Amino acid sequence: MIIPPSDSASYAVFYNLLQRIAMIFVTGASGNVGAAVVERLRDRQIPFRVGLRNLERAQQTGGEAVRFDFLDARTYRTAVQGCDAVFLLRPPAIADTRKTLNPFLEVARQEGVRQVVFVSVAGAADNRIVPHYGVEQHLMQNPGGWTILRPGFFAQNLGGAYRTDIVENDRLFVPAGQGLVAFIDGRDIAEVAVKALLEPDAHTGQSYTLTGSEAMSFDQVAALLSEELDRTIVYKPASIPGYGFHLLRRRMPIAQIAIQTILHVGLRYGQAEAVDDTLPKLLGHPPHSMRDYLHDFRSLWLRSSH
Ligand SMILES: NC(=O)c1ccc[n+]([C@@H]2O[C@H](COP(=O)([O-])OP(=O)(O)OC[C@H]3O[C@@H](n4cnc5c(N)ncnc54)[C@H](OP(=O)(O)O)[C@@H]3O)[C@@H](O)[C@H]2O)c1
Repeated sequence: MIIPPSDSASYAVFYNLLQRIAMIFVTGASGNVGAAVVERLRDRQIPFRVGLRNLERAQQTGGEAVRFDFLDARTYRTAVQGCDAVFLLRPPAIADTRKTLNPFLEVARQEGVRQVVFVSVAGAADNRIVPHYGVEQHLMQNPGGWTILRPGFFAQNLGGAYRTDIVENDRLFVPAGQGLVAFIDGRDIAEVAVKALLEPDAHTGQSYTLTGSEAMSFDQVAALLSEELDRTIVYKPASIPGYGFHLLRRRMPIAQIAIQTILHVGLRYGQAEAVDDTLPKLLGHPPHSMRDYLHDFRSLWLRSSH
């Protein structure tokens, strides 16, 4: 009889061997979720290969590294050769997934990839407008194992899209009104992704809607930020045109401004308010809270003089 090891790192290796996951190809490894996936694979000594547009950046992750670009189909095949599983992330700038992610998936299946874990977005199942929809359909309609993660709004937006406003102007400036948001930490998405990569039999064919455990307003987020940073951060609800001009001044492309605006206006109407209990069930422990996230990443919002 095979006895599984008791500590979690060896247990993951054991599962890896048991289910014959020889190599995992990771996309988006320099981003919020992908970097956390890589960190977890590295900690558990699971073999992985990172594909990024910038090879040097991929090499810095500590795994095998290849140059990989969704916009360059010549990079697809070598990226996935010898891999059983793929962590698939749609880069935010890629809108047409039919010409990028879907052809990549076809090559991956030809090369023997059995399990694909895809980071989609909450609500994508019934929303043909979001680019993730086409990828979900492609996964479901073609042979091969898959797990779809549909996360809500990321806490990491505070360290990304909102960071400059916080650092330079001590404010959050989005057109979200008084809407509540069940922010999810990208590290928890990564943890679920790794489970689905290492234990495909337990998760294949499943779609999971994932949110944080508490819905909060931007006023509450600003208060938590103020507490963490020891300086006052305020939430200024933006008007739609005011937000558009703000992003224009930041030189954001018009298409992206439109998407950002639609997403944030949706928050006013409670689009990201619902709390789903799937995440803690999959994790086996409570997810990171907003307070945890702000504490762990606090250096992102410090001014150079602090
Ligand atoms: N933000 C939210 O609140 C939210 C909520 C739900 C779902 N989502 C979804 O989550 C995804 C974003 O995840 P994230 O925040 O982890 O991403 P992210 O931090 O923006 O990172 C994007 C990653 O994609 C890579 N990339 C960019 N262009 C590429 C290309 N042409 N070929 C190959 N790789 C490329 C980037 O690498 P380099 O730039 O280093 O090349 C980077 O590693 C999106 O699909 C988004 O719709 C986001």
